[in-house]
Amino acid sequence: MPMMRLTIGVCFMVLFMATRVYSFVGITWGRQQSQQLVPSMVVDLLLQNKIPALRLFTSASDIIQIFSGTNISISICLGNRVVNNLNRKDLAYTWINDRVNEPIKKGVKLVELSIGAEPFSNTFLKQATNYEVVNVIEIFRECLDEMDLGHVITTTAHGMDVLKVTKVPSESDFRDDIKGLMLQSLNFFNRTGTTFLLNLFPIQMIQEVLNYPIEFAFFDNKSKFKIQDGNFTYTNVVELMIDSIAWAVKKAGYPNMKIMIGQIGWPTDGYPHAHIKNAERFHKGLLKFLASNKGTPLRPGPIDAYLHSLSDENEFKTMFGAFQRHWGIYQADGNPKYKIDFSLQDRDEYPTQAKGIVTMPNRWCTFVGDKSDMDLVKKNYNFACEAADCTTMEEGPSCGKLTDESKISYAFNAYFQRKQQNEKACDFNGLGEITSTNPSVEECEFPVEILSFQDQVANNGMVKLRI
Ligand SMILES: *[C@@H]1O[C@H](CO)[C@@H](O)[C@H](O)[C@H]1NC(C)=O
Ligand SMILES: *[C@@H]1O[C@H](CO)[C@@H](O)[C@H](O)[C@H]1NC(C)=O
Ligand SMILES: *[C@@H]1O[C@H](CO)[C@@H](O)[C@H](O)[C@H]1NC(C)=O
Ligand SMILES: *[C@@H]1O[C@H](CO)[C@@H](O)[C@H](O)[C@H]1NC(C)=O
Repeated sequence: MPMMRLTIGVCFMVLFMATRVYSFVGITWGRQQSQQLVPSMVVDLLLQNKIPALRLFTSASDIIQIFSGTNISISICLGNRVVNNLNRKDLAYTWINDRVNEPIKKGVKLVELSIGAEPFSNTFLKQATNYEVVNVIEIFRECLDEMDLGHVITTTAHGMDVLKVTKVPSESDFRDDIKGLMLQSLNFFNRTGTTFLLNLFPIQMIQEVLNYPIEFAFFDNKSKFKIQDGNFTYTNVVELMIDSIAWAVKKAGYPNMKIMIGQIGWPTDGYPHAHIKNAERFHKGLLKFLASNKGTPLRPGPIDAYLHSLSDENEFKTMFGAFQRHWGIYQADGNPKYKIDFSLQDRDEYPTQAKGIVTMPNRWCTFVGDKSDMDLVKKNYNFACEAADCTTMEEGPSCGKLTDESKISYAFNAYFQRKQQNEKACDFNGLGEITSTNPSVEECEFPVEILSFQDQVANNGMVKLRI
């Protein structure tokens, strides 16, 4: 018995030292989209690009099990709405058995359970009344330990709005209304040796909260903009954001608590400065920064991070803006949008594309151009945009400059593709027509639907088009 303890101790130390010296970079994947990448292709994509870890915004067993035998570290998420329904040990047991224990038995390297999605954010706290989340995390921790799943980490993610807005990081502290909850949760993290999980969205922070020049988001020192905080100089917003959290955590009594980035990225549409060139530039600088292992002024040393996100989610709620649907590094068809080197070697290359994705035929639905009854046109336009994704046409984004007529076509097509190119879905009271001529213009692409996972599974892997 003492021998075994020693072995575990040594293993732990090796692991501990390994994670202290180098940062690791994983990726996130959500599935709120009509065009879903097939999970087996995602596995292939991660392996080809040597991405070691995946943060999934689901706990669906059919998705998780596909990662069995891959040695990709998987983190799964228990959504805000479910948290309050699992506040009893018997309920937690059943959930863990189905969603954690079963996949692990089947060879999935499931390493983390994230309970609630930014439960203390101003918006979500009120909406989902997540005041119980820390109790639920404690219940899950107890159950996991009792079920011999002590190695599965229990955590929850935090957005920057857990802090009050301050001028410099050293002044930062948690919001008054959640101070008690934060102290309870930090105490739990400290007791269980859990890393503080932080979600960072620099593009929004700079423009909506801080009102700093956008150049401050990038790590390439092309601007002279700086923030001085005592002896610390901040040349970019990411370090400033991390240290703001680190100061608040320090003031709460945990100066050494490790901080990990649960989500960080740059959208390519739907917001000022959200486009492919900036996304490439942001990631290039960010990955160099992470690879340097130099850390931030207050927290020198490696920082682990998950890039957000693998693919766009065209059904994501746009509560904070259209950009929420455009975080993808990859397009729905499995092609990378821009150059990025996941291996942290700063190579100027596109990452490997996802192989074997099957798109539907090259067919689009467009507006016939009859404007004699504009009320009818508008009615159909609104109908299409309510059911499908029209966010690329909002102010600024890639399709914002389309003519009114093209905008109607774009909406009709979005709906038609959303309905798997069903011909009836291109009727629009006689205002729509199907065409094989690609109506895309310059940076505005009119998408073609891809075959979904479910379509392919339903056909035992045999691809059959539903047309
Ligand atoms: C599995 O991944 C870990 C890092 O996450 C690595 O240290 C280990 O060598 C990998 N094992 C195999 C068999 O590839
Ligand atoms: C955090 O945990 C460590 C190790 O268990 C303990 O020594 C320390 O007192 C804890 N800190 C606080 C503020 O509770
Ligand atoms: C930017 O400037 C800071 C401070 O002068 C320096 O530490 C950092 O290495 C520079 N980064 C790049 C990418 O040049
Ligand atoms: C700033 O640096 C000086 C000199 O190293 C040191 O004396 C001082 O305490 C530091 N101030 C703060 C706020 O850390």
